[in-house]
Amino acid sequence: MIKRDFEAGIDPETRVLSTAYAEEDAGVELSLRPRTLDEYIGQEKVKENLKIYIEAAKRRGEVLDHVLLYGPPGLGKTTLATIIANEMGSAIRITSGPAIEKTGDLVSLLTNLGQNDIMFIDEVHRLQRPVEEILYPAMEDYVVDIITGKGPSATSISLSLAHFTLIGATTRAGQLSQPLRDRFGVTLRLELYTPDELTLIIKRSAGILGVEIDEYGAREIAARSRGTPRVANRLLKRVRDFAQIVGDGKIDREIADFALGKLEIDKLGLDALDRRMLEVIIKIYGGGPVGIETLAATIGEEAVTIEDVYEPYLLQIGFLARTSRGRMATRLAYEHLGISYSPQSQADEPDDGQLKIL
Ligand SMILES: Nc1ncnc2c1ncn2[C@@H]1O[C@H](COP(=O)(O)OP(=O)(O)O)[C@@H](O)[C@H]1O
Ligand SMILES: [Mg+2]
Repeated sequence: MIKRDFEAGIDPETRVLSTAYAEEDAGVELSLRPRTLDEYIGQEKVKENLKIYIEAAKRRGEVLDHVLLYGPPGLGKTTLATIIANEMGSAIRITSGPAIEKTGDLVSLLTNLGQNDIMFIDEVHRLQRPVEEILYPAMEDYVVDIITGKGPSATSISLSLAHFTLIGATTRAGQLSQPLRDRFGVTLRLELYTPDELTLIIKRSAGILGVEIDEYGAREIAARSRGTPRVANRLLKRVRDFAQIVGDGKIDREIADFALGKLEIDKLGLDALDRRMLEVIIKIYGGGPVGIETLAATIGEEAVTIEDVYEPYLLQIGFLARTSRGRMATRLAYEHLGISYSPQSQADEPDDGQLKIL
């Protein structure tokens, strides 16, 4: 079995570097979550635009336009939705695409909304079609059409709704249907954070958690956080444990480096799973291109997990390239893994740094 050769002995579900929300994040995420736009670090373009939209809506005394937030997990979409509600002075109802099973569920959510309320639908790309269709007139004209009775005696009644704002969040804007996408007046894309921004986030979180940390310690953790605040906060908590047990409780570069080494997270924030995936591409598929499904099957992971969780960061640091024929490991990836660069197939090799993103 190919898979076994590369088994790293790490369960993706409990992976420290996973950007996905985990049970252990629950309590801490709430307390670490910024509550205002000014507390929200980074995403400057998004914040700048949002401030204008919020201010304009308030001045006109109207509700904010529907907002679509998209970007990889852990970048602050849920946080931003709660901040928008806070800044608008609105109540927020939180639900998610998969949680709304029947059209009736959505109708009752909608009819219970008050004026200016915000409805947040996480994973909005996972709404079922009939449910989604209820949203169209609701978003456009603040009405829902419901059908009562059956057969020839069925009648349709139109209920008017309070003026509300829908905030949708998704990791994959491409999977949203066109009619739904068109109904969001504002679309905001969240980007991976820079090491400087992550350093600020880590220092802020350390302050809230009451842990002493110096600049170098914060930078060391930031560099290994895959551009993702959720990962940064999780690593901070792990490093804090090491600092308390092995050190004097204070986080500096040395203890951060020691702790992250113990967690097998390398200088660039790659763990055994990332390295395994790159090794599979290089050693089994000659550096690529290899199709996402094939790759997924080989490493025993789901294609969507690779796309949502592993890839964004590997693409960002230029270790992986997406080509029309699949994924390729770049020269940088070879160098990082200490493998000499000799891709077997150069057909789709992107020009230097010019990644073909499809
Ligand atoms: N811009 C930010 N500034 C500070 N902390 C942030 C920021 N964005 C996210 N976080 C932290 O990261 C955690 C994960 O964010 P979340 O909004 O749940 O991400 P998403 O919904 O995109 O998966 C939050 O609990 C919050 O503490
Ligand atoms: Mg979220």
